[in-house]
Amino acid sequence: MRHCRLPYSRSLSLATAALALTLALWPAQTRAQGREDEKPTNLKILPADISHEELRAVMGGFSSALGVRCDHCHVMEGQKRDFASDDKEHKQAAGGMMLLTKSINDSLAKVMGRESVMQVECVTCHRGQEEPRTLRGVLAETTAKEGAEAAVKKYRELRGQYYGRGSYDFGENALIETTQDLERRKAEPAALLPLLQLNLEFFPQSAGTHVQVGRVLLKTGQKAEAMTPFEEAQKLEPDNRRIQRQIQELTK
Ligand code: HEC
Ligand code: HEC
Repeated sequence: MRHCRLPYSRSLSLATAALALTLALWPAQTRAQGREDEKPTNLKILPADISHEELRAVMGGFSSALGVRCDHCHVMEGQKRDFASDDKEHKQAAGGMMLLTKSINDSLAKVMGRESVMQVECVTCHRGQEEPRTLRGVLAETTAKEGAEAAVKKYRELRGQYYGRGSYDFGENALIETTQDLERRKAEPAALLPLLQLNLEFFPQSAGTHVQVGRVLLKTGQKAEAMTPFEEAQKLEPDNRRIQRQIQELTK
């Protein structure tokens, strides 16, 4: 096999050197700046005798579950680091969340009627988000407040940032269900079309999206225009009875 020299190997080795330097300086600095590696002084929920490694693992778990860094909850401004301080609202909220999570876990076995149950963790709800929202929730709210184009933009943003990470459902049905939510909330039917168009960009083979486009066009009184999406859906799912019936009704 030929040895292949990567074009960025020089900057890579510089980066490695910088990292080594940082690591060499790091322990001295944390000791000088704060108390992360000292005995905790302000634990209200975790056991006071928790080991440093365990505490670090719990805190790492919080950070990744919410997709944030330590400074989301802890005072860490320049040289000032005070992990014991309760000044940050997010730390106070996290304390409440720890109790909430514990009470869910305490009740879970009772509710399920057996001893062995899953443990609910921060990530069970948060899935990498500060506030555990669903895609449908975010898009329905954005459409209601700022309109369909803003919701389309929001979807692209979230998809760019979170795709593949499990924070939001970017599957075929998510946008269809969002438009169904919006229908129930009495949104203007025309406002739903951009979201469905967007779905076809990512799922051109989605019969369900074409059907929903047809339904929305019918609602706006565009009977002739509605035929095309229903026929498109039929091409994709020739055996689908509901689509067949819909087309029969339209041609009557
Ligand atoms: C989502 C909020 C949140 C994040 C993010 C978070 N922490 Fe914490 N941290 C807390 C809470 C709440 C406590 C107090 C727990 C208790 O009362 O038992 C705490 C306690 C601590 C303590 C003990 C302080 C003392 O003296 O009582 C240390 C040290 C600590 N965290 C370090 C970290 C580090 C390092 C990170 C980043 C890897 C981090 N935390 C990320 C919420 C957070
Ligand atoms: C049962 C689901 C659930 C679990 C489990 C859960 N959370 Fe939350 N959390 C929520 C919801 C919902 C909100 C948003 C509440 C609101 O603002 O309307 C929230 C909000 C928060 C906030 C405030 C929002 C922010 O921007 O900082 C923090 C901090 C937080 N959670 C931390 C945690 C931590 C740490 C854990 C694990 C110990 C946890 N949560 C476990 C559902 C949950």
